[in-house]
Amino acid sequence: MKKLFAVLILAAMPVLSFANTAGPELEKVDIDLSDKAALQDGARTFANYCMGCHSAKFQRYERVADDLGIPHDLMLSKLVFTGAKIGDHMNIGMQPADAKTWFGAAPPDLTLVARVRGTDWLYGYLKSFYEDPARPWGVNNKVFPNVGMPNVLVGLQGRQVVGCKQVQIVEDGKKQYDPLTGTPLTHEACDQLTIKENTGTLNEAQFDEKVKNLVTFLAYSANPVKLQHQRIGTYVLLYLAFFFVFAYLLKREYWKDVH
Ligand code: HEC
Repeated sequence: MKKLFAVLILAAMPVLSFANTAGPELEKVDIDLSDKAALQDGARTFANYCMGCHSAKFQRYERVADDLGIPHDLMLSKLVFTGAKIGDHMNIGMQPADAKTWFGAAPPDLTLVARVRGTDWLYGYLKSFYEDPARPWGVNNKVFPNVGMPNVLVGLQGRQVVGCKQVQIVEDGKKQYDPLTGTPLTHEACDQLTIKENTGTLNEAQFDEKVKNLVTFLAYSANPVKLQHQRIGTYVLLYLAFFFVFAYLLKREYWKDVH
């Protein structure tokens, strides 16, 4: 029993250590890698809003098209702006040296960024740009302070500023409501991100969805075979469960005369 307990603790360790990473508190984003519509929307946003500066050079257009169910001609006409061929890697024309002069830092390749940063970080990062006149592009970021990247999604999200606003009280992870009226209980909190109304083309829920789809695409890009892994993993577990019955019966047979 003690041994079993030790094994369980050891098995849980990677999970426990992940939960411990430091940094700003990040909202959890629940992505679904099997959601083709979300992946396609994410790929579209990536090609339109990110590939001006960031490559995904370990990925080929063809592979993305096939994995996401996008016909090759549609992929080429709608998502490839560099004149690349379908079998090419997702490179960009911007030179790292130029980029460094313009932005102070070269935009890194994003193929594997979801593995390095995690999806919650990416989701938080892309939603946390706010206006800051002290910065070269007039924006700063809560999750990545003094970042060199401009807020490329501002047209969709609208202008975000830091200020005071009424936020719902949360205790033990639960949102608090007035027990009598059912209305949310709020308090004034400062240093909060607030979007100026009607400055973006999407409302807050639509923008969250857009960013979530984009992060889903980046998660796919960092691990395109993950879906396959999950399917194989299920078969392996089923096999093990099936095999266990026979192993157990055999063990009982062997030990019958020993006891
Ligand atoms: C105008 C150029 C430009 C565009 C367009 C752009 N970025 Fe960036 N991005 C940058 C630069 C420059 C950096 C490096 C910032 C730094 O290190 O200070 C960066 C950094 C990042 C990082 C941080 C990487 C890391 O791990 O340090 C992520 C993630 C990112 N960009 C995602 C995106 C996404 C997603 C889009 C599309 C919605 C996008 N970027 C569009 C210029 C751009």
